[in-house]
Amino acid sequence: MDDLQRNQTTAQQAQSLEEWEVNALRDHELHSSRYFQLLESRRRLPVSLRRQEFLDVYHNSQIILVSGETGSGKTTQIPQFVLFDEWASGKKVACTQPRRLATTAVATRTAAELDVPLGEEVGYSVRFEKKLSRMTRLKYMTDGLLLSEASRDRNFSAYSCIIIDEAHERTLNTDLLMALLKMATSRRSCLKVVIMSATLNVEKIQSYFPGAATFEIPGKVHPVEIHYLSDSTPRYCYCAITVVQHIHENMDDGDILLFLPTSGDIEMVCSILRKRYDEGLKVLPLYSALSRAKQQEIFEDSEYRKCIVATNVAETSITIDGIVYVVGEYLHNFFPWKVGIDKSATDSGLEIRPVYNPRLRMSSVLTCPISKASAKQRAGRAGRTQPGICFRLYTGQTHDTCFIPSAPPGILEGELASQILLLKVMGFESVGTFDFLDPPHPEVYLCGLQDLCAMGYIDDRGTITPKGRIAARLSVHPKWLNAFMEGQKNGCLREMIDLAAISSTQHPIFSRPPPARFAADIAHQRFACPLSDHISQLNALHAYESAMKTNNRLPISQWCFDAFLNRRALSEVVRIRDQLLTSLQQELSYTKEICGFEDAEYDTHIRKTLARSFFYQCALKHPDPFATIYKTVHEGHTAGIHPESALTSERQEWIVYSEFVSSGIPYLQTVTAVDPAWLIDLDFFQDDSLPKTENGDFKQPLVKKSLDKARKKNDSVEEDLISFEELDLNATWY
Ligand code: CDP
Ligand code: MG
Repeated sequence: MDDLQRNQTTAQQAQSLEEWEVNALRDHELHSSRYFQLLESRRRLPVSLRRQEFLDVYHNSQIILVSGETGSGKTTQIPQFVLFDEWASGKKVACTQPRRLATTAVATRTAAELDVPLGEEVGYSVRFEKKLSRMTRLKYMTDGLLLSEASRDRNFSAYSCIIIDEAHERTLNTDLLMALLKMATSRRSCLKVVIMSATLNVEKIQSYFPGAATFEIPGKVHPVEIHYLSDSTPRYCYCAITVVQHIHENMDDGDILLFLPTSGDIEMVCSILRKRYDEGLKVLPLYSALSRAKQQEIFEDSEYRKCIVATNVAETSITIDGIVYVVGEYLHNFFPWKVGIDKSATDSGLEIRPVYNPRLRMSSVLTCPISKASAKQRAGRAGRTQPGICFRLYTGQTHDTCFIPSAPPGILEGELASQILLLKVMGFESVGTFDFLDPPHPEVYLCGLQDLCAMGYIDDRGTITPKGRIAARLSVHPKWLNAFMEGQKNGCLREMIDLAAISSTQHPIFSRPPPARFAADIAHQRFACPLSDHISQLNALHAYESAMKTNNRLPISQWCFDAFLNRRALSEVVRIRDQLLTSLQQELSYTKEICGFEDAEYDTHIRKTLARSFFYQCALKHPDPFATIYKTVHEGHTAGIHPESALTSERQEWIVYSEFVSSGIPYLQTVTAVDPAWLIDLDFFQDDSLPKTENGDFKQPLVKKSLDKARKKNDSVEEDLISFEELDLNATWY
């Protein structure tokens, strides 16, 4: 490696290093036999056949756009080509992914390809979890994490090259990174940037980087025969099972990839298929909540035909060899605030997506149709190594008339408050004029500013406050800083940190598998607090932690199973919480004040703290004692309390809520009953607080209603009270 000169290496030089018996990256070690097996298959990838052409382009340009079919070797090979070429720089190479699952999977694969232990020369870093060391030279990471590194160093000075992968997905974080890298490259001429994408929507990105070089990987794509249903069906899971059965029993060899929207659907279909074929078909689920070991199983060889049942994560970011049949449903699930969104090749055509509605100020989880581009991409998974067949569990007409051409970029759909704060902390004062690939919707942008102002993170001129600077550095959503500060005052900081950790896990801690909903609800009653879902969550977490500590005969996995709690989510909560504690000790002078369980005021402290930190998310009940409808004080929207809430039987007048969700019917989720006396003195409820926008030019009243007015308004709820069925949320969608 010592002979390699930065940006002057040839493919031949690198290849002969790779063929050595000794590992060039660790010169005292011999290569394993698996290494040479992997090397042989890597050399056959389309991108490896063009290594020299890639290097020629790379040497002569600062920004390079790489496009190629999925499976051509972009994610695993290009970072290695760059690593060899940049070795002499002594700096790191970063490769970003939009999803956590993909980040860890490709890091594991690349470490194996380079024959190094994961976490040494090759490592990864995702939120709340990393495998890195001082030796790490190639770092796979989520786009969100690189973004938070950028808030500390706008020049990306630890890196010689940054590779942005899956740029076609246009996540909010990827878009922001591209904007920051565009600026950083003009300041640091030695920083190289590679933007990689599947062959979708490349033109748009090209026009954003005018001087950039392009490199296309020609891919062999085999023809894929596409079949549609003649009639649409709501029972897509059963339909999927029938199709898989048909393929398995009647069609030639070849693995099956089935796309379904939710992990619940996936588990149900897997268990039915497993019962039906205990031999002869290897059924494997794939979604982000699975353990790493289970996720890794999909890559293992099997003597039987494999049937992988996945969310949309298998659409572009994870490539599984040997897929010949794709079956797909047309909805997909998107989760708000969660990193690591999963999608799924029997194409069902559905996905869930979080859509931010600036007027509701809330992300809603929606199950909605995938785009035409996604459907094409899913079908393409069947034609990688030989001609394939795709069964779409929807009609041709649905595809033609209901699917949008491609999914809108995340920046047009997401909530922006934390991103605006991040840009402000980096010194970009006027975020409104920032050079984005697609500028955000002005209304979403304005809401972001208003929320930051209400939280006290920017002042009325739009300048970041000292508190805002701390909030931007938190590894959880910035809104939690207020809860931590308030919690410290009220002696329940520890509980607020627990709640912040719970809200940051990818998956809910309460498990409600569809076939056992009733049993789950009964099991959850032992944790339920009639006044607060937040406290119910804390009760479950504390019960889990004491079950971990006590040396009882029951293994913890069985304990969680019996209690219908999600063990993986809980252990993630504990990990996140411990990390938060450490970082808070540094950021806030956190003193270990823990409110004891014996304190009679325990619940009250917590509810008061929640009220005073999430006051802008409070709602008031309709005056009719039998009504179940609440109206949000801030924006005056009507919603019910989520049926899973422990509060449904208790009718509380004032509540604060964590999420405004909608899958047809609008619901307030994770709610806590509060006393209005805790709220009355807050600025938010005074009439004369009229903050301005960041330019100070158009004054926009932040809160138009005082508490009294809110009460009056509530009296008039009756007039505009409509039934849930009539509530047309789409009408308020922008
Ligand atoms: O990024 P792109 O879709 O172009 O391809 P890639 O992810 O680099 O995958 C290239 C090849 O590596 C695929 O054909 C997979 O078979 C293999 N691979 C694997 O076996 N296990 C992984 N975790 C990732 C990739
Ligand atoms: Mg890739």
